[in-house]
Amino acid sequence: MALNWVEIDLAALRHNFAQVQHCVGSRTAILAVVKSDAYGHGMIPVARELAKAGAHFFGVSKCWEALKLRSAGIRQPIVVLAGMEAEDAPTVIAYDLRPAVYRLDHCRLLDEAAQHAGKVARIHLKLDTGMGRLGVPVRDLEPFLDQMASLKHVHVEGVFSHLATADEADKTFSKEQMARFRGALQRLHDRSITFEYAHIANSGAVLDIPEAHGQLVRAGIMLYGSPPSEDIQSPVHLRPVMALKTKILQVKWVPSGHSIGYGRTFVCSRPTRIATIAVGYDDGYPRALSNRGEALVHGVRVPIVGRVSMNLITLDVTHVPGAAPDDEVVLLGTQGTERISAEEIAQKAHTISYEIYCAIGKNPQRLFLNSSGHLA
Ligand SMILES: Cc1ncc(COP(=O)(O)O)c(C=O)c1O
Repeated sequence: MALNWVEIDLAALRHNFAQVQHCVGSRTAILAVVKSDAYGHGMIPVARELAKAGAHFFGVSKCWEALKLRSAGIRQPIVVLAGMEAEDAPTVIAYDLRPAVYRLDHCRLLDEAAQHAGKVARIHLKLDTGMGRLGVPVRDLEPFLDQMASLKHVHVEGVFSHLATADEADKTFSKEQMARFRGALQRLHDRSITFEYAHIANSGAVLDIPEAHGQLVRAGIMLYGSPPSEDIQSPVHLRPVMALKTKILQVKWVPSGHSIGYGRTFVCSRPTRIATIAVGYDDGYPRALSNRGEALVHGVRVPIVGRVSMNLITLDVTHVPGAAPDDEVVLLGTQGTERISAEEIAQKAHTISYEIYCAIGKNPQRLFLNSSGHLA
């Protein structure tokens, strides 16, 4: 067994998938966003579990991620959300990927590659309705469609856009984006361009903007058990999927006046029992939680004292007399009745749960647990 490891609760993942379906109803398809190694949770095992649970589509950022899914036997349609590179066109066709398309040169390359293979390229046309990142600006839609009209081997399977503020309480801007999106869809209809899926909803919209659901939603963070922000009160109960655990390496008494760790940022004001544990910022635990974070030992919250270093953290376990070397410590997750959430860590580190999951999920020791808590 490793000195620290990440546990992935596949039963919780399935539960969260069912909650997405509950929120959107049975007539709306779900695209499970598994990019960035499923937000650190492990793309292949996560995608396999979600495929079993009934995910209709998968979403990745880059073509190579989609190829990994295909090699792992995932047959569902895969949308490549950041789009393709020029050299990816033959691969896109060969593996039946759905790139987000927002560039005419990519459209032309796909058309050529599809014609060459005797197939049709299925694309998801990305529109910029206000995020200002990727996408054809809605005001430039007509000239883009004019140019696309001659490409006979390209089929628009989906049209989509991304909401910038779906995770905020104030929905004014989301509604503006949705109005622009609807206007653009109408212009496609007016040109008799047919498509199967219009999609704009991320987790924030799944949870909080029912009118954004449409035929397909793209759910990411809620699958992993977190609401997209603290401004969103989830109408469904989500279960956290990831836990970060480690062991106590050493326990010792340190006299009053002694300092702990780099920079001597913590000085004991009383005789203190210090437990040193085998996690550090190399494991994705934020250094910003030096003297701020907490861990669970014997089901009790204990403070991190001193700096979080690369591979070690020091805890004050004075009030947990039973704490001993080799005892399990939880930095993210549940022990007994106590729980430390990614939101809690993120808030203290001035970031978002997404970043915490991605960083901690890089841990090479990942254990996938089934519904009985055993290794999957
Ligand atoms: C285009 C797109 N759609 C959907 C999502 C999923 O968002 P969330 O994790 O907030 O559900 C993302 C995530 O970044 C995205 O980039």
